[in-house]
Amino acid sequence: MDAFHIEGGRRLEGEISVNGSKNAALPLMAAALLTNEPVVLRSVPDLADIRNMQKLLDELGCEVSSSESGSPRAVTLHVNDESISHARYDIVRTMRASVCVLGPMLARRGRARVSMPGGCAIGERPIDLHLRGLRALGAQIELDEGDVIATAPGGRLRGATVFLGGPFGSTVLGTANVMSAATLAQGTTVIESAACEPEIADVAALLNAMGARISGAGTPRVTIEGVDQLHGAEHSVIPDRIEAGTLMCAAAMTNGSVQIHDVPLDSMLAVVDRLTALGVVVQPEPSDDPQRVSCRVTCERVLKPIRVTTQPHPGFPTDLQAQMMALLCLADGNSIVTEKVFPERFLHVAELSRMGAELHRQGATVVVTGVRGLRGAPVMASDLRASASLVLAGLAAAGETVVNRVYHLDRGYENLEARLEQLGAAITRRGDSV
Ligand code: EPU
Repeated sequence: MDAFHIEGGRRLEGEISVNGSKNAALPLMAAALLTNEPVVLRSVPDLADIRNMQKLLDELGCEVSSSESGSPRAVTLHVNDESISHARYDIVRTMRASVCVLGPMLARRGRARVSMPGGCAIGERPIDLHLRGLRALGAQIELDEGDVIATAPGGRLRGATVFLGGPFGSTVLGTANVMSAATLAQGTTVIESAACEPEIADVAALLNAMGARISGAGTPRVTIEGVDQLHGAEHSVIPDRIEAGTLMCAAAMTNGSVQIHDVPLDSMLAVVDRLTALGVVVQPEPSDDPQRVSCRVTCERVLKPIRVTTQPHPGFPTDLQAQMMALLCLADGNSIVTEKVFPERFLHVAELSRMGAELHRQGATVVVTGVRGLRGAPVMASDLRASASLVLAGLAAAGETVVNRVYHLDRGYENLEARLEQLGAAITRRGDSV
């Protein structure tokens, strides 16, 4: 298995552009199941999760081809066989986001069988809200041999008003599922307590380009007027706010100065607010598009301790909690990190401690006592963002850090080692890890 070997202590400098968003691209690709005309997506990142989604769509009769040449990378998705509607356990278990084929397949084919995703390293992750939403649209749902089997009586869903709030806020992929399914339903659907994440607005933008009638996406109330059919379309995936935030933390961790292009700044106000409170300088250049801004990120430590609480958008994203914690390890005093979206998402805590971090966890809160410096160590975490935080810690630590099992990172960061190396980091990938 591959590992990253990082020689810490190099200041990051230079320029880098943010890639397309993984978490937007996955439901966007699934939306191609809603039509038998080609859907072309641009700026799709080249990631393990995207390749898994390609494999799944291929099994479901949707041909996926990507233009390896040309930048940004374009992916064409074209359904040519609608007879299969079973997303098998073999694929779903490798990627939880496979669940986002459920809504589109049910809406278009009248039936979907999707292996129930299990828990994962960051917590229990139920799909009850997805199922509640689809039931409200008239779907009959049963569970058999670990699969969710959903059918639309008479072959078509019916519009309805559905409340998608749960104990930890709304659900991002659940909102994408119900919204996508409602595009082909008979009548109007209102989703109340919809997820407000920018990825939802991006999915709605593609669906509208395909002929759907969606308004309010990106707000807690989304209205969808059902149409009889959708057609092909072209769409560019929004830049990845989590990759942008990770790069900002990397610049700050190393007292660097990095110009980051294509930052979706309008979707990152909570992140910039916390970085600024900490003492990191984020200087945006004037831009016509608030979702593609060029920003210089610099940091002259001393960092001030802060409080960070993760929340659904527009709050501070859970997908940046681990990376922010790595940075807070170097602040001058006690910071407090509270996780309100996935209360168990702390796999990085024990590993950061191996590098000399002082972390005290109680339930969903961690007190981070800043230290003078981190020390390199062999580490590993079985979650994508936790692994990213270990890479960041390695960039700042004295000596060598070996981050094992980087296949977790490959799920969500394209060529991370090459991109950090381009900014001056001493990081190499080797195939010798445990
Ligand atoms: N939840 C329920 N019931 C449901 C669905 C969710 O109780 O039916 C709970 C979850 O357990 C969690 C909260 O609601 O406590 C939010 O979960 P959500 O459904 O919004 O998560 P998701 O849609 O499965 C996406 C991202 C995650 C990201 C979360 C939260 C994708 C592919 N995944 O997951 O990304 O953490 O939203 O923003 O879009 C990552 O990229 O590392 C990642 C884990």
